[in-house]
Amino acid sequence: MTELTHYNQYIADENAMIAFGQQLIQAINKLDNNKPVVIYLNGDLGAGKTTLSRGMIQGLGHQGNVKSPTYTLVEEYHLQNKHIYHFDLYRLSDPEELEFMGIRDYFGTDTICLIEWAEKGIGLLAEPDLIVNIRYADNARDIDLIAQNAQGEQIITLLAAK
Ligand SMILES: Nc1ncnc2c1ncn2[C@@H]1O[C@H](COP(=O)(O)OP(=O)(O)OP(=O)(O)O)[C@@H](O)[C@H]1O
Ligand SMILES: [Mg+2]
Repeated sequence: MTELTHYNQYIADENAMIAFGQQLIQAINKLDNNKPVVIYLNGDLGAGKTTLSRGMIQGLGHQGNVKSPTYTLVEEYHLQNKHIYHFDLYRLSDPEELEFMGIRDYFGTDTICLIEWAEKGIGLLAEPDLIVNIRYADNARDIDLIAQNAQGEQIITLLAAK
């Protein structure tokens, strides 16, 4: 089977972003291994990185709020035998803070790491399987998924096959 490396989607509004997050997590759930999944979420302030994360986390069964990890750096959820770590490194002042947090331990088996503002943690984070770029298109958004390795390609292929 030919694996896809790239996926583009127009997102009309916030609800469509949530729905896309649900589709993305369902694709990840179909992977047949327990390797860590690392996704960098890129886009300007307010582009919808947290909104997409909320769709993914609630799509895995989380009932409550998904708050932005802006001040806590990371919020965690334990759902369906998976550990989701949702990072926002915007306010990271010193990458050493990530060392103090024991950042390496977050990239273990059965984990899904969603990372906003990953560029602030460069060199200390695991390499991504998938990069998600979100761009403003007036009130809508345009999303690009770009696979960085074979696992990223599997996720995109599963997403496109839905
Ligand atoms: N098509 C859309 N997709 C996603 N969000 C949208 C869309 N249209 C409007 N919005 C609004 O844009 C905002 C996106 O905020 P969100 O916190 O998800 O952004 P963010 O990329 O995480 O920003 P930050 O860098 O500050 O963390 C929300 O208020 C949401 O309601
Ligand atoms: Mg955010």
